[in-house]
Amino acid sequence: MEKGVEPGTKPLLAVLSGERRDPPPVWLMRQAGRYLPEYRRVRARVAGFLELCYTPELAVEVTLQPLRRFPLDAAILFSDILVVPHALGMEVRFLEGEGPKLDPLREPADLARLAPAALYPRLRPVYETVAALARELPPKVTLIGFSGAPWTLACYMLEGGGSKDWLTARRVALAEPEFFARLVAILTESVIAYLDAQIAHGAEAVQLFDSWAGVLPEGETRRWVIEPARRIAEALRRRHPRVPLIAFPRGIGPLYPEFVEAVRPAGIGLDTTLPCGWAAAELPAGIAVQGNLDPVTLLVGGARLDTAVAEILAAFRRRPHIFNLGHGILPQTPIAHVEALITHLHSRGR
Ligand code: CP3
Repeated sequence: MEKGVEPGTKPLLAVLSGERRDPPPVWLMRQAGRYLPEYRRVRARVAGFLELCYTPELAVEVTLQPLRRFPLDAAILFSDILVVPHALGMEVRFLEGEGPKLDPLREPADLARLAPAALYPRLRPVYETVAALARELPPKVTLIGFSGAPWTLACYMLEGGGSKDWLTARRVALAEPEFFARLVAILTESVIAYLDAQIAHGAEAVQLFDSWAGVLPEGETRRWVIEPARRIAEALRRRHPRVPLIAFPRGIGPLYPEFVEAVRPAGIGLDTTLPCGWAAAELPAGIAVQGNLDPVTLLVGGARLDTAVAEILAAFRRRPHIFNLGHGILPQTPIAHVEALITHLHSRGR
């Protein structure tokens, strides 16, 4: 079922194969979500957020919503990174205004609560969503699948929810490395299986979100961020050599070049804080860079937005570049600002 890369027809895949396009292809992290009134209407029809992720008909609908409004180059599967811990057997709830809540893993014996064999059957609705999207997407639009990376998933699984500093996960990684290594090994295999199945059902590219990679010191970044990403990238390359991986190790700063050399993804997501000029100079030439407009700049809009977009385009004019935000779109973002961004991109190019 895997589709070959069609660089001639899909701008995003062309850029991920190393071509430059002007204007660059564009999609936005969290492009489906609460800033869209039509999303909030669908969301109100289900009791819980996970039900939305596990109901293919609704997940397809909300995936397509942003594409009906904006000429985006990609659709990203509507789901969440926390479906993996959920499918492994953890309790995961999304409480209104409070973010996700999990029953945290506290000690090595708790790993027995995780059932990797349950992963495929429990995630089947997500694969059905991918397959339906692959059938329905317009010809120029690329279907992106995704997963959370092991470190970020482990953060939520040990902490039991969101955190400002991820102290529990950082402490366990340092103080109980054997426990932590077993958890990361389970997650690495789960992520490979999950992304492999998304590709088998029609995902044309996959993104690995390591949202909290930036809280670790250098040595721990190598062990818990770079090494698992390298294993995931290698396993997927072996199974699907033509399907590009976009890695997003948010916040690793000066370790970005080392990450790219070790993992060799087709594309690298740059976070908001990374200077574009530095990234353009320091990252290997063949790799596509993705990013990195500040979501707050998009929220504010106006002349600040135009200037920021122009600066990003100028910095990456000599590289394969995918325009995106440096982190997810904020729920308060006016739709008119998203329209202005895309109009600006398409009219000016470089
Ligand atoms: O449009 C898309 O990008 C596809 C869908 C998508 C969602 N979450 C939908 C969602 C994607 C790719 C994600 C990834 C995700 N989820 C990440 C990695 C990216 C990042 O932002 O760093 C993380 C860390 C999560 C975990 C998560 N999911 C949190 C912390 C929350 C609560 C906070 C919040 O923003 O609401 C969610 C819930 C969530 N995931 C919503 C959506 C649309 C909102 C829930 C709702 O509508 O009730």
